[in-house]
Amino acid sequence: MTVNTLCTPLEFLRPAAISFGSGTVQSVGAWAEERGLRRILVVADAFNANRVDLLRLKGEVTVFADVVAEPDVGNLDALLKVAATAKPDVVIGFGGGSVMDLAKLVTVLGGGRQSLTDIVGAERAKYRACLVIQIPTTAGTGSEAGTRALITDPATSAKLAVQSRLMLADLVVVDPDLTTTVPPRVTAETGVDALAHCVESFTSRKAHPLVDLYAIEGVRLIGRFLARAVADGGDKEARAGLALAALYGGFCLGPVNTAAGHAVAYPLGTRHHIPHGAANAVIFPHVLAFNLPAVPERTALVLDGLGLPRSAGKELALAYGYCESLGIEMHMSKRGVPEADLPVMAVDAFAIKRLLDNNPRAISQEQILEIYRAAY
Ligand SMILES: NC(=O)c1ccc[n+]([C@@H]2O[C@H](COP(=O)([O-])OP(=O)(O)OC[C@H]3O[C@@H](n4cnc5c(N)ncnc54)[C@H](O)[C@@H]3O)[C@@H](O)[C@H]2O)c1
Ligand SMILES: [Fe+2]
Repeated sequence: MTVNTLCTPLEFLRPAAISFGSGTVQSVGAWAEERGLRRILVVADAFNANRVDLLRLKGEVTVFADVVAEPDVGNLDALLKVAATAKPDVVIGFGGGSVMDLAKLVTVLGGGRQSLTDIVGAERAKYRACLVIQIPTTAGTGSEAGTRALITDPATSAKLAVQSRLMLADLVVVDPDLTTTVPPRVTAETGVDALAHCVESFTSRKAHPLVDLYAIEGVRLIGRFLARAVADGGDKEARAGLALAALYGGFCLGPVNTAAGHAVAYPLGTRHHIPHGAANAVIFPHVLAFNLPAVPERTALVLDGLGLPRSAGKELALAYGYCESLGIEMHMSKRGVPEADLPVMAVDAFAIKRLLDNNPRAISQEQILEIYRAAY
């Protein structure tokens, strides 16, 4: 059941400029130089830090190479120390969602005028310290397109969400060739993350015509290209299709956002360090099937988009089989989650009201636990 109509107001923010296509990464240095941005801080993981030369940067360049997957507040603090010395005119996120989220936080925390606790939540940041360029190197989170950053609080294991229009990129460079090195497992899991963004917003209570277009086209792109990119990482057309799907998924996140799929997946990451994409993949078919009675037509369109047959009553098996065919390990038990932890995880997931409220079908803590048992 969706509640919005064509007349429902919706604000849709997008980065000021998006440069898409093979080889675009080489234009970053000239873009910064033309704007007189001399002090540059590149935020990267160990893999991408080794190829910063691709950006052709000029000026005083500092590289922070230590972003870890699913970063926590300690990782951010280390980055902010480097930013305090570098005093960048522009920060560049060069990596996956983990990197891009930390780069976003530098734009509002870099000047030291406000702290993380000051800005957790929606639109609480008041100052911006520098410009931000985002260059995704995975095709999954869509973080490049939006105003949100997620960071784990080690004290509570919960993901803190910061949303601020001041973190929106001044330039996004989506060069799909950067993703040809992503291994098949990560390609599959991050691809299902992008799919989940599109599907959850397309079937959300708050789905909106302004975003539906991107959501359903993102599903179709995943259907056409994800299996191809998993089978052959060097397939540049497939990589470009996935990069576009991830970007479209990102367009869906700001104005509409995800729903129960992501809420139920979060404890797998925060409590058991399962990567974000993998956590979403494990949960995806179960929530799709759970929501089916509330959004039957939209779920049918999703299955069409993935190239799966319409077969009443078999939706769970079809979506599950699709993820499994990509080589994704779909059992939580085989990912190191202790069975005894499932009830606590259900408590954690049930507390994520900001997402559960978007779900087209009301979901109880007991029903979340049933999903965990089914996915175990
Ligand atoms: N801001 C948002 O809107 C949003 C949305 C969804 C997820 N997220 C966050 O994003 C994070 C997950 O991001 P992710 O799924 O992109 O994974 P990631 O950034 O953690 O990267 C996964 C792994 O792939 C490696 N890698 C990255 N690019 C590579 C390349 N081109 N070749 C080879 N290896 C490469 C990284 O070093 C890392 O080991 C989570 O913290 C999640 O909460 C944010
Ligand atoms: Fe996600």
